[in-house]
Amino acid sequence: TPFVVAVDGPSGSGKSSTARGVATRLSLAYLDTGAMYRAVTWALLQRGTDLGDPAAIARDAVDLRLESGTDPQAPTIAVDGADVSEAVRGDDVNAHVSPVAAVPEVRSMLVDQQRAIIAEATGGIVVEGRDIGSTVAPDAPVKVFLVADAQARAARRAAERGGADEAATAASLAARDAIDSTRATSPLTRADGAVQIDGTHLTLDEVVDAVVQLVEE
Ligand code: CDP
Repeated sequence: TPFVVAVDGPSGSGKSSTARGVATRLSLAYLDTGAMYRAVTWALLQRGTDLGDPAAIARDAVDLRLESGTDPQAPTIAVDGADVSEAVRGDDVNAHVSPVAAVPEVRSMLVDQQRAIIAEATGGIVVEGRDIGSTVAPDAPVKVFLVADAQARAARRAAERGGADEAATAASLAARDAIDSTRATSPLTRADGAVQIDGTHLTLDEVVDAVVQLVEE
């Protein structure tokens, strides 16, 4: 099986920038599993699925066709042929993605797809999410659990979103983290064997360096 670097952590901890930086430096592929949960959520919102009803979510999610582009310099996500790479970052998706991701049928469908993408990445791949080290790729030789304090995460995410309100952003991240870490199926936790890195006081380059060092050890 291909070489996997698993990067997990809470919302806004810098996983995407870190994972893309590591993949670029080491010439590995890159998979953003969060984008897949976001794309499913986007498609169900479009379709008018009742997102308060897990059975309806499971029923409508099964026939969606996702395509993930794995170039770390230009990652993409498409659903049923439409590129939704930008659209999945919207407030609507942020507000609904965690309940969608808590539905076991959605998770098993996406975990299967993620494992298939990993199997095809013969040159190795950096995979980011919440359950990569625990569930998607528990045998990954390198596992990172990236954290940062809540204020740093909110400030980072608000800046990324062109100066969005920091208090509202903090509340949105906290709401997702609460659902992600208490759901019954694959809740967000530090996986066995994962090295925790606290990025609160580190630059992106320093975090990337730390992960690359783990790979080279
Ligand atoms: O970028 P950010 O950290 O804000 O979130 P993301 O990685 O895009 O993930 C969006 C949401 O998808 C998370 O809040 C989780 O609910 C869900 N997710 C998950 O359940 N499992 C994963 N492996 C990745 C994401």
